[in-house]
Amino acid sequence: MIYSKLIAVASALPETVLTNVDLEKLVDTNDEWIRTRTGIRERRIVAPGVKTSDIAFEASQKVLSKAGLKATDIDLIILATISPDHFCMPSTACELQQRLGANGIPAFDIVAACSGFIYGLKIADAMIRSGSYRRILLVGAETLSYITDWTDRGTCILFSDGAGAAIIEASETPGIEKCIIHADGQYADMLMTPRYGFESPLHAREQAGSIGFIQMRGNELFKLAVKSMADVVVELLELSGTSADQVDLVIPHQANIRIIDAVAKRLGLPIEKVAVTVEKYGNNSAGTIPIALEHAFDTGRLVAGQKVVLTAFGGGLTWGGALITV
Ligand code: ACO
Repeated sequence: MIYSKLIAVASALPETVLTNVDLEKLVDTNDEWIRTRTGIRERRIVAPGVKTSDIAFEASQKVLSKAGLKATDIDLIILATISPDHFCMPSTACELQQRLGANGIPAFDIVAACSGFIYGLKIADAMIRSGSYRRILLVGAETLSYITDWTDRGTCILFSDGAGAAIIEASETPGIEKCIIHADGQYADMLMTPRYGFESPLHAREQAGSIGFIQMRGNELFKLAVKSMADVVVELLELSGTSADQVDLVIPHQANIRIIDAVAKRLGLPIEKVAVTVEKYGNNSAGTIPIALEHAFDTGRLVAGQKVVLTAFGGGLTWGGALITV
């Protein structure tokens, strides 16, 4: 029996810090409102021109170094993002692959918004269990600052940039014990970046399409996020025959402290068992879970052998979770 195991995780966070006070200069908001409604105090933003593949590369180099591996030791790259370097092609995973010098191995992007890392974990786990690949680089990387409307106070206070990378490897003992993913496209317009222009250049003689900024219906999302992230944890525990007491740490997608608190309350979990990084890093979509995982290791909240539950929710709508022994 082949299992898959997460053997290392690392992150890349841009140096530029955008505080709530900085945002007061851009839109009609204030630090107190942002802190009480979201829990966010500051977030990281890339310097002009820095692309998703740049921060994905930095996180990947760090995780390879932590694992004592070379890029050529990897046999597949999966990159989750909704802010790719290019609109259509090439994939950001291919950009990353050539930067790493891992030419020839397969590399592809997945689009599952804030659930991207969990979707990637599910694919990586299945690929390894099937015997197709033995060592996978899984990256969640976003430069959401390029698709954020910095004149919209309802959204610009939430989003940020950042990347996290993990190595998932074949193992004789269980690591990723259970991984579940879901989607419901009936809510597609609840959180989206609209694409404008569907006239064919064949007829209109002009470039087809341009990308809009992130739009969302925050109140409705809030309720669905809490229910979905909590329900998938219950589903994971039931399917794996694990009790909540056996879980050492829950790492939820970092969107909003009120969502995280409500998920913990719904599950009857003490907040000490829940990882929180949203205060410092905001919501960088597919990046939040690997970034929070690294943070948990670095701060000693997580040590090898412990059980962790990951849970995420995002545009699509998509959601999912994983039970892993690290
Ligand atoms: N500063 C000051 N006032 C603001 C701001 C702001 N930045 N943004 C909105 N307001 C105002 C509104 O205009 C409104 O004013 P009004 O009453 O005069 O009309 C008032 O505050 C209340 O607005 P609501 O939208 O009802 O505020 P709410 O308490 O729902 O908080 C928020 C908004 C923070 C966006 C919340 O709905 C939320 O977090 N939703 C989840 C969305 C999310 O996290 N999305 C990320 C992607 S999904 C995911 O990652 C899970």
